[in-house]
Amino acid sequence: MSTTISEKESREKAARHVSAERPILEFGGAWEYAPAPESKDHVRLESRYGLFINGAFVAAKAKGHFDTINPATEEKLAEVAEAGAADVDAAVRAAEEAYRRRWSKLKPAERGKYIYRIARLLQEKSREFAVLESLNGGKPIKESRDVDIPLAVAHFFYHAGWADKLSYAFPRRTVSPIGVCGQIIPWNFPLLMAAWKLAPALACGNTAVLKPAETTPLTALHLARICQEADLPPGVVNIVPGAGETGAHIVNHPRVAKIAFTGSTEVGKLIQRATAGTGKRLTLELGGKAANIIFEDAPLDQAVEGIVNGIYFNQGHVCCAGSRLLVQESVAETVVRKLAHRIETLRLGDPLDKNTDVGAINSKMQLEKIRELVSCGVEEGAAIHQSACPIPSRGFWFPPTFFTDVAQSNRIAREEIFGPVLAIMTFRTPDEAVEKANNIPYGLSAGVWTDKGSKIFQITSKMKAGVVWANTFNKFDPASPFGGYKESGFGREGGVHGLRAYVELT
Ligand code: NAI
Ligand code: MG
Repeated sequence: MSTTISEKESREKAARHVSAERPILEFGGAWEYAPAPESKDHVRLESRYGLFINGAFVAAKAKGHFDTINPATEEKLAEVAEAGAADVDAAVRAAEEAYRRRWSKLKPAERGKYIYRIARLLQEKSREFAVLESLNGGKPIKESRDVDIPLAVAHFFYHAGWADKLSYAFPRRTVSPIGVCGQIIPWNFPLLMAAWKLAPALACGNTAVLKPAETTPLTALHLARICQEADLPPGVVNIVPGAGETGAHIVNHPRVAKIAFTGSTEVGKLIQRATAGTGKRLTLELGGKAANIIFEDAPLDQAVEGIVNGIYFNQGHVCCAGSRLLVQESVAETVVRKLAHRIETLRLGDPLDKNTDVGAINSKMQLEKIRELVSCGVEEGAAIHQSACPIPSRGFWFPPTFFTDVAQSNRIAREEIFGPVLAIMTFRTPDEAVEKANNIPYGLSAGVWTDKGSKIFQITSKMKAGVVWANTFNKFDPASPFGGYKESGFGREGGVHGLRAYVELT
């Protein structure tokens, strides 16, 4: 097999795509996309946001406001109130009151109606939410528009349906709610994670105090507006922005019955320690370092698309990202060549441009972490390949990158980078692939690419990972449970399994 796509081949390919009248473009010529920016005019941004407690936006009692920015431009978008201990206490009390007096007493079908209402309102405003998510988090509009927001909506619809059918989810058991749920979410899928947390909690009859991540509070606060519009009883949902300290106040509050956390393994461990012996329920969805395994009999072009989706989707800020590529030795050279070619076509830039594939890194801190791990990869002797795409002068950016000549012991092969950086390793036999894939403290997800159905069953059943995709990657559905093994956490979100964390069964 040839190792480079010849110029002639590429030119012929390009020629097939243009009509006879048009001039044939030289491959690599300046065939530029016209900018296709999504409008921001329909987004109603406040200059200052309060905390959402007991159905109203209120000022923080002791702390002030913090700025929330657009990571693509570093421009300030708004000021957001930061919740301190007294605010968290007020939110928990409001949630407890709402739980006792209203929400847990409501007929389940009525609960369902409120959740349907939230789902429909969110769906109606999906354009506003998509723009807001991209502005505040840096992700490409095509992802917030086609993935984040529709999935968040689907999550509310799905769980609205469960509200009055819990006895079917848990047959022959008495199902009761558990009380006030404290929910702490990260910045990589801000609205979607809010939906993953709130929808099942509410459907099962619980109330919630939710803390969005410090860099991405805006869509959660706009979701609070939707709760108001839906006439959700005050106190059922409370939103308290802030940083780790605010999160710790939620974790340590004695009136909180359950903690649901998504974020780093480091903080997950702190939370597990803090809740041990308190009787609080806990689910943790933590980091990952997924193996994406490509066998020689896989449809390689499709697999390359799967690799790209696995690691460059959402700038690689994905806990289940396919960040370790394991390729069978016989096709490694071909896959690497195709991938090197493919990453040059990824468009990095303005998240609001509909042509953008790779948006901004979420924060300066995250960019520094990515840079540190990448330089470590270079120092440890791996070979770096980076897209030559232009990088905007302002904002936080990192080009699509992959490493070859990676050793299993390298930091880039073991630690979660949480950026658009892939570590490529090879294997010879299926057993070796399984061994290498599982040789990691994490166990959140994995991918397998092969033409053989029997091999899919053989390999996927040996993966120590909560989710395994076959001939695809990063596919989500509210009916499908998601969660990890080992240092990736415990508990499942989504599907019937996800309901289990929010009910008491007797
Ligand atoms: P983090 O775990 O510190 O933040 C996640 C959430 O936890 C945020 O809302 C944060 O305010 C809150 N938090 C932080 N400290 C807390 C504490 N002591 N008690 C309660 N809540 C607390 O993650 P961070 O620092 O933003 O990112 C660091 C690394 O963690 C990333 O580079 C990535 O590797 C990993 N990460 C993994 C995520 C996942 O989805 N599995 C999501 C975010 C980060
Ligand atoms: Mg942190």
